[in-house]
Amino acid sequence: MNLRTASRMDELVPSGIRKINEQALKLEQSGKKILHFELGRPDFDTPEYIKRAAILAIEDGDVFYTSNFGTMELRRTIAGKLQEENGIPYEAEEILVTVGLSEAVFDTLCSVLNPGDEILIPDPVWMNYLNVPKLLGAVPVSYHLREGNDYQIDLEEIRRKITPRTKALVIVTPNNPTGSVLSRRTLEGLAEIAVKEDLLVLSDEIYERLVYDGEKHLSIAALPGMKERTFTLNGFSKAWSMTGWRIGYVAAPREYIAVLNKIHQHNTTCAPSFVQAAAVAAMKEETDEVEKMVREYAARRDETVQALNTIPGISCRTPKGAFYLFINIQSLGYSSEWMADYLLREAGVALVPGSVFGPGGEGYLRLSFAASREDLKEGCHRIRKAVEALVKQNERRN
Ligand SMILES: Cc1ncc(COP(=O)(O)O)c(C=O)c1O
Repeated sequence: MNLRTASRMDELVPSGIRKINEQALKLEQSGKKILHFELGRPDFDTPEYIKRAAILAIEDGDVFYTSNFGTMELRRTIAGKLQEENGIPYEAEEILVTVGLSEAVFDTLCSVLNPGDEILIPDPVWMNYLNVPKLLGAVPVSYHLREGNDYQIDLEEIRRKITPRTKALVIVTPNNPTGSVLSRRTLEGLAEIAVKEDLLVLSDEIYERLVYDGEKHLSIAALPGMKERTFTLNGFSKAWSMTGWRIGYVAAPREYIAVLNKIHQHNTTCAPSFVQAAAVAAMKEETDEVEKMVREYAARRDETVQALNTIPGISCRTPKGAFYLFINIQSLGYSSEWMADYLLREAGVALVPGSVFGPGGEGYLRLSFAASREDLKEGCHRIRKAVEALVKQNERRN
């Protein structure tokens, strides 16, 4: 068929995570037992009190369009949270409620990037930050997150990569796929550069609640001179286990929010009314459920890191945030795509090749530990057997 699609779509690469997921599902249909560690979705149910709030809202007739910006109650609640927890003095008028953080990324980038503008993005990175700028004719310029540097940002590299066309900088902390949390020192250094070079900053904080070992999440907008140039992007998908509810937000100076609302209005109109009511409840009526999930993630992380690090040929750091392990497979000598395919076929373990997140992810596999402890234990056992078989096979060949 002669597809008459826009040429800008040629720039977009389909999600490599979905590709692995589809292959895994196909194998499952053919009767193979697959352990799924590929998707970035919590395996817990949404807490009961949040579900009840949505059901009550529907029963109360809260089923119509809301203000494009989101309900005032939710915007106030988010602003209050950002003031109290993150130390950023946002007001309700500086919040736009979106259909997931994904929409917040799209609205923000559409609103600030002109064709030809450069935007600094991490490598490896959650792919929206590579694809959306390309769609807009802007130029994503990658900076490296290196394991040897604890995946902190090399400030010298950032300085080197700034040109007269650089308009914005993206940071993701805690990070997907590395699980790293940017240190205060890194964030202060970045803030200094952003102010000096007059850069806008998109700060993706979707994993902020998922931090371990007493680690503190710091929002860059809380640093001097940053609030006026930062878009703080966040949502409910990860901490409250609400990926299917599709709700997020962007916090930014109100003049920017007015511009973002123009694209949001034409795109989604507003986030679903009863989901907004549930989001208010998620924050206002919070029990200890998020903390419980975080404790459980930490225990799974520790057990899995320990098990993986006893497998010859692979190694894995203990991430301080999110729910991903970024497993170093470099010494095995295979590409991450080959290894992910091998482990899926031979061991029935679905992992994401690091190369899906950019060239900097080559040599790594991402494992999501948002899975049951039994599956994680069994997964490590299967990975061990498959890797040992591979190493033996190579030894015989040499
Ligand atoms: C860094 C990052 N930002 C945003 C999202 C998507 O968030 P949402 O479900 O709110 O669209 C993800 C999902 O994996 C993510 O990893």
